[in-house]
Amino acid sequence: MKHHYDVIIIGAGLAGLRAAIELGEETKVAVISKVFATRSHSGAAQGGIGAALGNEEEDSWEWHMFDTVKGSDYLGDQDSIEIMTQDAPRTIYELEHIGVPFNRTAEGKIAQRAFGGHTSGFGKAAVKRACFAADRTGRVILDTLWEKSLQRGIRFFDEFHILSLIVQDHQCCGVTAYEIATGEIHVFHCKAVLLATGGAGKIFKTTSNALASTGDGMAVAYRAGAPLEDMEFVQFHPTGIYKLGILISEAARGEGGILRNNEGERFMERYAPTIKDLAPRDMVSRCILEEIRAGRGIDGKDYVHLDLTHLGQEVNDSKLAEITGFARTYAGVEPNKEPIPVQPTCHYMMGGIASNADGQVVLDSQGSTFAGLYTAGECACVSVHGANRLGCNSLLDTLVFGRRSGKEIRKFIHSIGLPPIAEDVAQQEKEKLQILMDRPGDENYGAVLAEMQAVMMDKVSVFRTQASLKEALEKIRELQQRFTRVSVGDRGNCFNRELLDVLELDNMLDLAEVIAAGALFREESRGAHFREDFPTRDDNKFLVHTLAGYRPEKEPQIFTKPVTITRFQPQERKY
Ligand code: FUM
Repeated sequence: MKHHYDVIIIGAGLAGLRAAIELGEETKVAVISKVFATRSHSGAAQGGIGAALGNEEEDSWEWHMFDTVKGSDYLGDQDSIEIMTQDAPRTIYELEHIGVPFNRTAEGKIAQRAFGGHTSGFGKAAVKRACFAADRTGRVILDTLWEKSLQRGIRFFDEFHILSLIVQDHQCCGVTAYEIATGEIHVFHCKAVLLATGGAGKIFKTTSNALASTGDGMAVAYRAGAPLEDMEFVQFHPTGIYKLGILISEAARGEGGILRNNEGERFMERYAPTIKDLAPRDMVSRCILEEIRAGRGIDGKDYVHLDLTHLGQEVNDSKLAEITGFARTYAGVEPNKEPIPVQPTCHYMMGGIASNADGQVVLDSQGSTFAGLYTAGECACVSVHGANRLGCNSLLDTLVFGRRSGKEIRKFIHSIGLPPIAEDVAQQEKEKLQILMDRPGDENYGAVLAEMQAVMMDKVSVFRTQASLKEALEKIRELQQRFTRVSVGDRGNCFNRELLDVLELDNMLDLAEVIAAGALFREESRGAHFREDFPTRDDNKFLVHTLAGYRPEKEPQIFTKPVTITRFQPQERKY
């Protein structure tokens, strides 16, 4: 089936919906999503959205900007960070005006809580900057934007999986997608495409991400010639439930929760004497693993305790209801009485499709753009998070840059007509899928997936070395070869989950290779990328973004571009 729209948005999370709303009623826009819109992973965001409102304590957007730059280990582009932090208060008031039910202070202002790496006075002490709705902040924003999108008459194609971008004469003019309920291939012909497909945490064995977080948008863009930026920077959130990776929000520590080792010691006091448990995530995750390596994991195992027992039932029930419920259900502990067993869990990709602050996909170090192709949210790299994102800056990123992308696309589509595309696009995709369905294979999809997730977790997670990365790359390339022999057992067209799993695995294998290749290239330690063989930051050689270009049948081509530094010169990062 063929569809014609002005704009196609892939992904119904916060970035996609905010852009869709910005496109205005006169624009014909459709949102395609692999899952039902309100099941998008933005809905799993718990703790808050950052903005220097100063409702609870003195604050300023310059402090927010400084913290974000420092948190990024000076790799974030400061022009974009300035845009984001300056626009944050407006973004929150906009959400309030469209009905987002934020928690309130006693005087009725939007309530705020502390979050990792957010400080007052350029690093003096922790500050309450995250606006929140209990520990379901993403959920309430997503539901509100979805209602708004329905009011605007935006068309949703739920449970459609993106297959490829349609690129004609170097311009993106549509996408092909697979309808999961019927197996039909659809061609969406349009003037502009926005990729807002979120992250790719499922590449790693332990993750807080949803099953759908398989990096589809990043992979299709990469294969269509868009470089991926800074993919070696993968965030491990310090507090996933032991063995399961389910997120226990940083809000727990924002409300006063404490990490303890097997001696009951509040070990973060030793590593980050100023802000302790509210140090940024890259540091806290490393410190937890250092404690475990030193034999101070609980019962000699690879986890520590998150203690909320002193917060009292009132706080735990009202402000941390979701995560205390998760602790009861999934860890079998009563958080009012017992600590929660936690360990780092893959949470967020700082890297993504290279883009500028208006959502245009960027092709090279000169900033040339990919006509008709835009990106926002976690699948994009603007870059506002650099080498390490601060908690509560991701929801902000989706809304600030989702809106800006919508504005930019609106300008672009008014200046052009619908570009022509080839007649046989659907047929080509059908043939590719048929080849995949028909190929005889002796390889099992599940085994390839499990081995990829295991090697990424063991060799490419919080601690890395040249040897571990080389081993990982070798393994990923072996898995890519084995993938060509994976067959699809289910021959059906209706909800063929097996076919979908195979398509997603193909995407994840390409991204895993880029992550490991970028990490091998970057011979320094910065933010979430810690090389035990190069344990310090090297600003002389590596104060640059990496870009990875796709080369069919070959390893990614890694090249670099400069970091934009405006206000804050790189310094040693201490908390
Ligand atoms: O810990 C959290 O609630 C996660 C927030 C975030 O990733 O920004």
